[in-house]
Amino acid sequence: MKKLLLFLLSVVLICTLAACGGSGAPAENDGGADESVSVSEPSSDHTTEPAGKEDNILIAYFSWSGNTEQMAQMIQSETGGELFKIEPAEPYTDDYDTLLDVAQQEQRDNARPELGSQVENWDSYDVVFVGYPDWWSDASMLIYSFLEAYDWNGKTLVPFCTSGGSGFGRSLDKLPDSAPGAAILDGLHIPGSSVDGAEDEIAAWIEGLDLS
Ligand SMILES: Cc1cc2nc3c(=O)[nH]c(=O)nc-3n(C[C@H](O)[C@H](O)[C@H](O)COP(=O)(O)O)c2cc1C
Repeated sequence: MKKLLLFLLSVVLICTLAACGGSGAPAENDGGADESVSVSEPSSDHTTEPAGKEDNILIAYFSWSGNTEQMAQMIQSETGGELFKIEPAEPYTDDYDTLLDVAQQEQRDNARPELGSQVENWDSYDVVFVGYPDWWSDASMLIYSFLEAYDWNGKTLVPFCTSGGSGFGRSLDKLPDSAPGAAILDGLHIPGSSVDGAEDEIAAWIEGLDLS
């Protein structure tokens, strides 16, 4: 009887020890440790912005019928810059024929229409793309109001333009007087009817500017 009891006790003891040794806890711990390593590793990755794609770029544009705005958006996608809509204090007419007369009169008067929007944090931008439609073979006069409202010393100005076909017109010759102190880079003109699908042309132009 005594021997039987001793035998049973030994069996219980051996089973208990075997159960502890075969527990799944270490395996779980191992798995947890592995997981925490693999989760934490990506956080040490550095996601650096490609050259020239920084928040010191402003894309300022005026657009009456949307072509220049579309071009501005493509430039924004390519550079990662900030978009800014140049607006007149008093909106232009919606009527095309009336606008032709208004724009021509503004040009004859060498007018500086009042601006309805202001750039915040102008000092934080180093590169400013300035976009406009060609109106009567010149920039719309509102662009000169915009240029003359800011200090261009130390800034890089990159013009862009859409038109019915006549390009920048006289505007490129006039930019330096209205943006004194700016370094003016080669601009890009795209006919309004060709802005759709112009992403590659815009990307190649921006790459050539070497903004980094
Ligand atoms: C008042 C006015 C004058 C224009 N003058 C010219 C011009 O002299 N030469 C030209 O090629 N296109 C001219 N256009 C056509 C615009 O430049 C063209 O449609 C442009 O893409 C419009 O840009 P937006 O859609 O951003 O306003 C004129 C358009 C308007 C409304």
